[in-house]
Formats: sequence, C-alpha cells, structure tokens
Amino acid sequence: MSRNILVTSALPYANGDIHIGHLVEYIQTDIWVRFQKLRGNRCLYLCADDAHGTPIMLSAEAQNITPDALIKDVQARHEHDFADFLIEFDNFYTTHSDENRTLSENIYRHLRDNGDIETRTIEQAFDAEKEMFLPDRFVKGECPRCGTADQYGDNCEHCGATYSPADLNNPISVLSGTPPITKDSEHFFFNLAKYQPMLEDWLASGHLQPAVVNKLKEWFATGLNPWDISRDAPYFGFEIPDAPGKYFYVWLDAPIGYMASLKNMCAQRDDIKFDDYWRSDADTELYHFIGKDIIYFHALFWPAILKAAGYRAPTAIFAHGFLTVNGQKMSKSRGTFIKARTYLEHLDPEYLRYYFAAKLNSGIDDLDLNFEDFMQRINADLVGKVVNIASRCAGFITKHFDGKLADSCSEPELLRDLVSAGESIAELYETREYSHAIRDIMALADRTNQYINDKAPWQLIKLEGNEKEVQEICSVGLNCFRLIMLYLKPVLPKTAANSEAFLNIEPMTWAARGELLIDHAIHPFKPLLQRIDQKQVAELSGADVSQQ
Ligand code: 2FM
Ligand code: ZN
Repeated sequence: MSRNILVTSALPYANGDIHIGHLVEYIQTDIWVRFQKLRGNRCLYLCADDAHGTPIMLSAEAQNITPDALIKDVQARHEHDFADFLIEFDNFYTTHSDENRTLSENIYRHLRDNGDIETRTIEQAFDAEKEMFLPDRFVKGECPRCGTADQYGDNCEHCGATYSPADLNNPISVLSGTPPITKDSEHFFFNLAKYQPMLEDWLASGHLQPAVVNKLKEWFATGLNPWDISRDAPYFGFEIPDAPGKYFYVWLDAPIGYMASLKNMCAQRDDIKFDDYWRSDADTELYHFIGKDIIYFHALFWPAILKAAGYRAPTAIFAHGFLTVNGQKMSKSRGTFIKARTYLEHLDPEYLRYYFAAKLNSGIDDLDLNFEDFMQRINADLVGKVVNIASRCAGFITKHFDGKLADSCSEPELLRDLVSAGESIAELYETREYSHAIRDIMALADRTNQYINDKAPWQLIKLEGNEKEVQEICSVGLNCFRLIMLYLKPVLPKTAANSEAFLNIEPMTWAARGELLIDHAIHPFKPLLQRIDQKQVAELSGADVSQQ
C-alpha cells in the first residue's frame, strides 16, 4: 500500500549562503524523498527560509537595506543553489509570510487559552546607545572563570565555562562598543513541563533514534524549564497578539514555517489537504531531518507546542552529524569553508551527492569529506565501475547489432540476483543506511564487471559465429547497468535520467525493475560522467574564499 509522507529539512537562515556543511542534510533528505517517490509512495518535501531574528535584522541594517529586501535576495540565492544541487523541494517558502503569521498567532492563542503561557519579568543586557536588548552572542567581555578577553556572553572558547552575559567582566555590546546596562523586561514563557508526559509517550513510540531518545531522557532528568518565546522590539519577526512591542522569538515561528510551507502549497494544489498532514489524528507520516545541534528545539519544544495547539506530533526526527573537511572543522583560513556556489564552479554536484551518500548512515556521528578519498571514490566507483559497464557493452550493440539488445536473456540467475537485491537495498535507503546501500550497489557493479571480464566479448567478436553470444553478453551487461542505475537514482538523478535516455526507456521505478530489456533498441552511448582530475580538486580547495 502506498504511504503518505511529509518530509522537511531544517530551514536555512536567510542571511547567508548555503555551504557544503548545510548540503549534508539537504542531500540526505533529498535522497530519501526521491527514494520514497521511486517506491511509489506519495512523499512531499517542504522547506523554507528561516527569515526572522536579530542577526537578520542587523545584517540588513549593516547593508543599508530593509530586512524584506535582504531575505528576498537570500531566498533567491538559496533556491538557485538547491536547484543546482538537484535538491527537489515540492515547495520552498519563507517564514516571513502571511500563512506563517496566521498559523503562529493561532497556535499562540491556543497555548494562551490553555493556560500554557505565563509572563515574567527578567533582567537582560541592554545597549543604551542602540536602544535594544542584547542576545547573549552580542555581549563580549572577559571570562569570569579564566579571565580570557573577548569572550561571548554565553560561553568561554578558552576554558569552556558556560555563564550568562551578566557574569562577564568588563562586558561591552558588540553593536556599539559601549558597556551594556541591565534592564527589566516582561517576557512570555511556555509551560514545557506540563507536556513531559506527552513527550514520554512520544519517546516510547519506537520511532526515534537512540541519540534523540537519550537526549530527551537527559533533559527529563534535569527538569524541563519554561521556554521564553518572546523578544523585545526592535526585532524582525511577528508581533505577539495583544502585546505591542513584543515579538515571537524566531525559534517559535521557525518550525511553524514547516506548516506554513504546506499551507502555501495547498493553495496551489487541489490534491493536497493541510489537515491530512497536521490534524491530531492524522494517519500520514511526518519526518523532520535536522542537524544534531537543533535536536532540543525539534524533540522537546516542537512536539509540545504541536500537542498544546491540538496538532499531531512528528512521526520521527532524523538527526545527522556535522561535516568535517580533511578531518577538521570547516575553516575559512584552511580553504575548507566551501560555499555551494564555489563547489559548483569546479565540480559536478552529483559527485558530492554520491560521496555524502557513501558516507552517511542513520546515526549522528560527524562525517568527513576527504578530498583524496572523494576523488578516488568518484573515479573508481562511478566512472571505473558503473559507467564502465555501459561503455563496455554499448559499443558492440550499436556497431554489430544495429542498437538492438538480444531477444532472450542468457544469464537469468545474475539478473534475478540483481533484481532481488532491490529489496534489501530499499530497506537500507528506508532506514537511512546509505553507505551500506552504496556498498551493496557497488558489489553488484563488481559482479557485473566480473561477468563481462569472464566472457570477454572483445575476444569472442573476433571469431566468426559468436555474434549472438556477444549480443547476449552485452545485453545482460546493459540490463545489469539499468538495475544499478535504478538503485543509484535517488543519489544520481541526472545521470539516471541520462541513462534512461541512452537506454531509450521510460523513467525507472522500483516496482518495474523486474521487466528486462529484451529485443529493445538503445541509443548510441555517450559518456555519462567524467573522471575528476587532481587539478579540479586542488582548484576547489585552493579556491578564493576570502569573500566568504
Ligand atoms: O539552525 C538553523 O539553521 C535554523 N535556521 C533551523 C530552523 S529549523 C526549523 F525549526 F525551522
Ligand atoms: Zn574562560
């Protein structure tokens, strides 16, 4: 039976370009969604820009433009980058939208009517010159523990101490350079602890990753504090109903942006119903792909807010680790802080999709992009193993058999094995064990190449009377190639489409994989993927990153 699935990736902030660290998640999600679609499931992939908050407001100010102009420009850049990396959203929207405002206000009113919101006066750092309250990251000073200068208001990079901005010695506002004063302000808090029993039930659903379960248990053990959902003007966001000068904290309306993106899509399409995905008893599946740094927001606040407002909880949260480059944190000075656009100037996006797939699994460990290994993998696996099958076989078929594959299958066992491998490979995609899936697919390519080597059609063709056998061997090879490309299609959609054109077939699906190409005309082979040479990688890692 076909499933109904809604999938999201975390919403990128609308004040910076997409870089290869972000791409881990979008590629991971896109592969999963494409896989679901190939399996015949209805799967919607939604995203949006995360457009609110103090950094975006200040960044617009620094550029002398309005926040609206900034987020519009950034959204266009994001959409362009995603499209070029073959990330295929069903809708990409923005949190700064009417739909999101209405949903956020309604959700807030629900919480308020439940009695889940309380107000409390808190003391906060305030920049008297800029006339604004300062988020922790906008206050710097000397660490109260070790005395190191120039530390942010939340933690010390030198000794690791965590504290609040009020604890810093000789603090200054990053905005004006003046010492901040302390000022009272009334804030709105969401009563998170009330939803602990609901979160405990959710945790018991069996859908969550061990890492997410462990985090939740840790937080339960330390106790759930009320969550501060408001910020004072000036702030770029939505004003809280009946509370002039108070705004929703960006993390309140950001995940609601997942819903708003769907709302926006429903207005464009009759066949999708908002309630099917969000009403409290919805039987559709809902998954959020996120980085491990934002588990807190997605596994605690978000399900609690949804429950409080009468919506369903996510089926699961899928968290992943961070990207390191050549074993180290991405860094501008080492030339490893690579923007999506910079990568595209040097290399094919499918190489990175393949490399990430070959390294990703369902856990939250970090993954490393090692350029030497990257080059080897693409050249050895994709060019040397997979495309090689097609290029070895197609020439004979075109030259000696007028482009026609044999009218019978001479190697049913090999092909049967490749078709049946589709089930276990599907299970690996489903469970996000991509690296294992890729290993198994490459083993199928090895087996196919071995078969061609053993049969050596290039020898046979030299002797009179072997034509039929050569045609059959190459037809088996090309049928194997078709199956391997189907299994790689979630990862390499462009090469899969080019392979479909070359094989002269309809778009491949998992269900139809057993239908072999018999007595079928193909087109002449054209190279499907190029080898990477050392120079391209060197240029990328040495690319001018001074602008980033
Ligand atoms: O951490 C981030 O980059 C956030 N912009 C992610 C938001 S995800 C969702 F909650 F909106
Ligand atoms: Zn310190």
